[in-house]
Amino acid sequence: MGMAYALGRPRKFNYLKASSLDEALRLLREYGDAKVLAGGMSLMPMLKLRMTEVKYLIDILGIDELRYVKSDGNYLRIGALVSHNDVAMNKLINEKAKILSEAAWHIADVQVRNLGTIGGSLAHADPAANYYPALLALDAEVVVRGIGTERVVKVSDLYKGPYVTDLRPDELITEVRIPLSGFEGVYEFFRRGGASFPSVIVAVTYQERDGVITSSRIAIGAVYPEPVLIRDNLVGMGVKEVGAKAVEIVNSVFSSIDAKPLEDTHAPGDYRVRVAKNLLVKSLTSISTGSIHKLKTPVREGISEWRDTEGKVEYVGDLVRVRINVNGQWIEDLVEPRMLLLDFLRKHGFVEVKRGCDEGKCGACTVLLDGKAVKSCMVPAVRASGHYVTTIRGLSKGIELHPIQKAFIEEFAMQCGFCTHGFMMVTYDYLTNIDPTADDETLKLSIKNICRCTGYINIIKAIKRASKYLSSANT
Ligand SMILES: Cc1cc2nc3c(=O)[nH]c(=O)nc-3n(C[C@H](O)[C@H](O)[C@H](O)COP(=O)(O)OP(=O)(O)OC[C@H]3O[C@@H](n4cnc5c(N)ncnc54)[C@H](O)[C@@H]3O)c2cc1C
Ligand code: FES
Ligand code: FES
Repeated sequence: MGMAYALGRPRKFNYLKASSLDEALRLLREYGDAKVLAGGMSLMPMLKLRMTEVKYLIDILGIDELRYVKSDGNYLRIGALVSHNDVAMNKLINEKAKILSEAAWHIADVQVRNLGTIGGSLAHADPAANYYPALLALDAEVVVRGIGTERVVKVSDLYKGPYVTDLRPDELITEVRIPLSGFEGVYEFFRRGGASFPSVIVAVTYQERDGVITSSRIAIGAVYPEPVLIRDNLVGMGVKEVGAKAVEIVNSVFSSIDAKPLEDTHAPGDYRVRVAKNLLVKSLTSISTGSIHKLKTPVREGISEWRDTEGKVEYVGDLVRVRINVNGQWIEDLVEPRMLLLDFLRKHGFVEVKRGCDEGKCGACTVLLDGKAVKSCMVPAVRASGHYVTTIRGLSKGIELHPIQKAFIEEFAMQCGFCTHGFMMVTYDYLTNIDPTADDETLKLSIKNICRCTGYINIIKAIKRASKYLSSANT
């Protein structure tokens, strides 16, 4: 066992599953030292880096009652388990709260967006999280449930500090609600580097009557330890006026903020503030000129499901029984609950699946889980029990290459080949489920796998060539 493996493995935990909200709340109360696992896209890296530990992990992804998008005339209601990709693409969210879907599009990459959930992101309360500025600007609320209790909390009151929220340990976010009061809005985003977190987010919304602003909300995220919300400072100004007054408005906004900016290797504090000021000027100018850039992205009617066919987790001593269908064949094993899907697959001979960064960034370990790309270093094998995993061997038919393999070979899109499997798997999901046309904007926001050898030009050419092969096969 190599060092990277030991470091990339969480401390031991017990794995439980809840199939209803009531069951999840009961388990949380009963087991005390427990956390729920939603998408796992923040909790798994923290467990693997051993920045946190937990005795009981309660998997809630199978709770269907927390996966919906609906509108009731007053609110747009989004269940806590709706994935980032569904927030990005759902038709109703795009129609009623476009800046929220834009926020979701900017999260990481296809793989993180397939599993990560809106409720999990809010509960995790990363100061750079994409949703907070959008939801603050939209004046959103969350519904929070405990055993026999329900309360509604403004998103502005939910965040209490970096990684700290108003939630009690035995409560869960069940819904995000956005008032349907007809906000116009802009979402501006700046990040340095592939699937990294943003360095600056600016969201602005306003309402107007006869060209005069009657309410406004400016939210700034990823710059300070807390997302900042400034209410109604544009009220009384003409919509067409705010561009000309942008510098004055920006100076007054930033002089009212009394917080030290965040710093990391991507962006020092003063740089973040400068970029934030520029993005706010850009937002105000685009509002006044009516030239707000809205992401042109694919839209879908429904949302995806997570089918749990296994029922209860079966323990044999400290081990759990896991049954995963890989490339059409069921494989059964007894494993520690902390075993990663990546290690399960490699143990059973699927060594085309590679361990790269081991922290969810590079995508070398990508496989399809029920047809969607996931990073197998971020999924406990037991979570995949009863589900279908596909590697490239499951896509090609014997010696006949899959069109994606052909495209990668024909474009010379590899050197050492270490990243190639992950790239091909995420390309499959992207072209099949997200954007068959491989439009530059969606491609840039979706595939962020890392290649250490080639540069990316030939990989992009291969994805575009694969798009042509697949579309001609479908016509
Ligand atoms: C490589 C990478 C890049 C990323 N980049 C970005 C980015 O650019 N922007 C961004 O916003 N995010 C980013 N993320 C984080 C991602 O959005 C996560 O999905 C999100 O922060 C957590 O959601 P989750 O469903 O995965 O929650 P989990 O990881 O399962 O849980 C996170 C925490 O919330 C708790 N929790 C989960 N659901 C609930 C609930 N309903 N009620 C109460 N508590 C709950 C869990 O117990 C845990 O403590 C990135 C993640 C990775 C791995
Ligand atoms: S090894 Fe899984 S994302 Fe890098
Ligand atoms: S071809 Fe070597 S890492 Fe991509």
